Amino acid sequence: MDKDREAIEKAREISKKMSLQDIINYTSLDIHNISRDLNNKFDTVIQNPPFGSQSRSKRGADRVFMEKSLELSPVVYSFHMAETENFLEKYWNKLGSIITHKFYYHFPLPQIYHFHKKELKNIEVIVLRVERNRN
Ligand SMILES: C[S@@+](CC[C@H](N)C(=O)[O-])C[C@H]1O[C@@H](n2cnc3c(N)ncnc32)[C@H](O)[C@@H]1O
Repeated sequence: MDKDREAIEKAREISKKMSLQDIINYTSLDIHNISRDLNNKFDTVIQNPPFGSQSRSKRGADRVFMEKSLELSPVVYSFHMAETENFLEKYWNKLGSIITHKFYYHFPLPQIYHFHKKELKNIEVIVLRVERNRN
């Protein structure tokens, strides 16, 4: 799911090359418009939210993904910029969830958006496995 149709088309194209097109459904949708009827309907959410620190206007854009993912599923794997780890820990905890695992990666990001200034930028990424607190 992504609100950007281009991102969806790209993902569709790649899944076809990998012969995965028949087992993946793609939806072009704004996260704010996900129906509440889908709450608790998923086993796991894997997400790569917009980085909240990208620009002033987008600050906090990742929070809505953190909030919604926990409504959809009891388990979430979430990609974030490693430098935001402290904020992330506090915010996931505030949402009543616990971080069970942390994975650190060097992520090579090619220049795909107009706001990317470098041809290739290595960013430090953290992937968190989060569980909704059962209490
Ligand atoms: C870090 S990129 C991840 C791109 C791609 N989904 C991936 O995993 O490689 C964040 C994506 O979040 C999407 N996005 C931002 N705000 C959104 C929203 N309100 N609803 C749905 N998607 C949104 C952007 O279009 C962008 O493609």
